[in-house]
Amino acid sequence: PETITIADLANRMSERAVDIIRMLMKQGAMHKITDVIDADTAQLIAEELGHTVRRVAESDVEEGLFDSPDPEEMLESRAPVVTIMGHVDHGKTSLLDALRKTNVVSGEAGGITQHIGAYQVQTPLGGLVTFIDTPGHAAFTAMRARGAKVTDIVVLVVAANDSVMPQTVEAINHAKAAKVPLIVAINKIDLPDARPEKVKTDLLQYEVQLESLGGDVLEVELSAKTGQNLDKLLELIQLQAEVLELKANPFRLAEGTVIEAKLDRGRGPVATVLIQRGTMHPGDIIVAGAEWGRVRALINDKGESTDGAGPSVPVEVLGFNGTPEAGDRVAVVENEARAREITDYRSNLKREKAAARLGAGRSSLADMMS
Ligand code: GTP
Ligand code: MG
Repeated sequence: PETITIADLANRMSERAVDIIRMLMKQGAMHKITDVIDADTAQLIAEELGHTVRRVAESDVEEGLFDSPDPEEMLESRAPVVTIMGHVDHGKTSLLDALRKTNVVSGEAGGITQHIGAYQVQTPLGGLVTFIDTPGHAAFTAMRARGAKVTDIVVLVVAANDSVMPQTVEAINHAKAAKVPLIVAINKIDLPDARPEKVKTDLLQYEVQLESLGGDVLEVELSAKTGQNLDKLLELIQLQAEVLELKANPFRLAEGTVIEAKLDRGRGPVATVLIQRGTMHPGDIIVAGAEWGRVRALINDKGESTDGAGPSVPVEVLGFNGTPEAGDRVAVVENEARAREITDYRSNLKREKAAARLGAGRSSLADMMS
């Protein structure tokens, strides 16, 4: 059923929410600003306030764009998507680098992560793992707020000499809220002041009970610096992934999420996209947020051009007409007309919202001055 919150309705009409609440009260219903009302009631109110109503059901335009069911026999297992989280300087980037056996850290300004990278790594057991390195938890939260569920497993990096710190706790809370299993990587055990046992007991306070303490959270003590136990971490990830039975249909139009996007001077808009279902190919018509385009090239994590990217594969997508935003969901659509229909609808919605905000700002200013 179509619904809208009173706050949203007021915003779209540039009216005051209290006036709407008052009108509803006259009809005998008590409401708060955050309450949801049905579309018919909303239409009556809007008309009573002298607005013309054009109802566009989101489902009409966005119908079938995402999450349509896949037949069971089309599902194939896919690589787990792992996000590395943890407190500043606990070794997230070093760990990822060690896993890739490359070295991004030294190339980064001041050793601080400047971007979200996404890469695939082979485990000793033979499977692939997709890693996402986050610059901070803000990106993760933003994606979750926009309904983009990209991560299957969170690897929580805790430095053994520093133990649990504020962003460690934040990461635990993010993982819990997103219902994503944690694997704890106790890092920097090469240091003389490493106290892995303290990390374990400190985590208990946040209801993270490691296996070695009788709990069910997988753990590994490692060193991103010496490389000790890195293969153990990859094994744990693969084991955890097997429990999750991750599957996707590679034989359909692709769907995914923008991990990061930028406007490149030479190449135009470039979006790093995590493919989640289906397979993306050059020539595909794609939409993301209010942008669309035709895939001109797909670049894999090794910087090579590829002619197909399937589930759990991170890939740079060239060919968008504008730059989408991190967290935008991406879909391949049948044709250009469909892409235009969807993005026109979304940009209108965006414009209307902006106008409503501006209008609301003006009237409150007018209120203040009267
Ligand atoms: P931000 O991206 O800034 O949050 O940091 P990060 O968590 O990515 O940490 P980073 O990998 O940049 O490492 C921080 C510092 O710790 C660097 O100086 C690394 O060399 C060092 N470091 C990382 N892992 C280890 C380790 O296992 N042992 C030792 N001794 N040092 C490490
Ligand atoms: Mg980093």
